[in-house]
Amino acid sequence: MGIRTRKVVIIGAGHVGSHCGFALATQGVCDEIIMVDIDEAKANSQAVDLSDAVAYLPHHVETRQGSLEECTDADIVVISAGPLPMKDQTRLDTLEATIKIVDTIIDPIVKSGFKGIIVSISNPCDVIAHYIWKRTGFPKNRVIGTGTALDSSRLRRILASEIGIDQKSIQGYSMGEHGDSQMVPWSHVSIGGKPLFDLIKEKPDTYGKLDLPDIVKRTAYAGWVVLNGKGSTEFGIGTALTEVVKTIFHDEKRILPCSVLLEGEYAQENVFASVPAILGKNGVEGIIEINLTQQEQKEFDNTCGILKDYIEKAKAL
Ligand code: 2OP
Repeated sequence: MGIRTRKVVIIGAGHVGSHCGFALATQGVCDEIIMVDIDEAKANSQAVDLSDAVAYLPHHVETRQGSLEECTDADIVVISAGPLPMKDQTRLDTLEATIKIVDTIIDPIVKSGFKGIIVSISNPCDVIAHYIWKRTGFPKNRVIGTGTALDSSRLRRILASEIGIDQKSIQGYSMGEHGDSQMVPWSHVSIGGKPLFDLIKEKPDTYGKLDLPDIVKRTAYAGWVVLNGKGSTEFGIGTALTEVVKTIFHDEKRILPCSVLLEGEYAQENVFASVPAILGKNGVEGIIEINLTQQEQKEFDNTCGILKDYIEKAKAL
């Protein structure tokens, strides 16, 4: 019998990693979830707590604490290790601390013979994804940062509340950094298939009153609204991660905004940044290049420029 089970290893069993596990389990996306953390007792507690839910879930899932050697036959490794930014920090400020942690896990992952796909969440997401890609030597399709998958959901939530239309009927992405410099290609945002710019022209009293730059700011700041009140973000990222994993396992060829290596796309090279990417069983299977306006390209270049500076800083650490 050639039936295989789907195994996900989550490295980092804190707020983010545990909520990734919970979302994966409740949505029945995989058959095995291995929680790995330097704090083994915590990883064990998260795994046991998760397994206490299984009797009431629609799908079976095995959950347990494990070591990095478990990556050997894993299909997907989720990296959620590293500090959450403090109130007065940006995600970029966590670079050094995250790299220290990531440095301890990369060699064991590679040594395990892992052949699957890495989905990295750790901040600064894009810079760390680039670092992991470089250090593992894995082909570019096998390393993905969750990037603006989360911000794009926040963007749609904020827009939905402004215009009174459900977020699922809003198509639009945040692109670039999963951080303060992200940009929104407004020329490609549509509501029920109708370009937002057409609606702005047609309905000056409602859509015309949208403050687009302010919506971008609120989208980029949305994580802090959550962090400031509860000290961590977890539900949004856990669900965004699950969407990425689901898309890969089901070989959906679905387009999600997430952080991938750019090699000439959008006139950018050697940088991980979020763009609409086609995801399937091979990880990143393609990039959709939407036509940006001159202004949007400028904003995209700006966010990539910031990421490149930090990629350089990471090299020097
Ligand atoms: C988030 O945006 C802090 O990157 C984390 O939720």
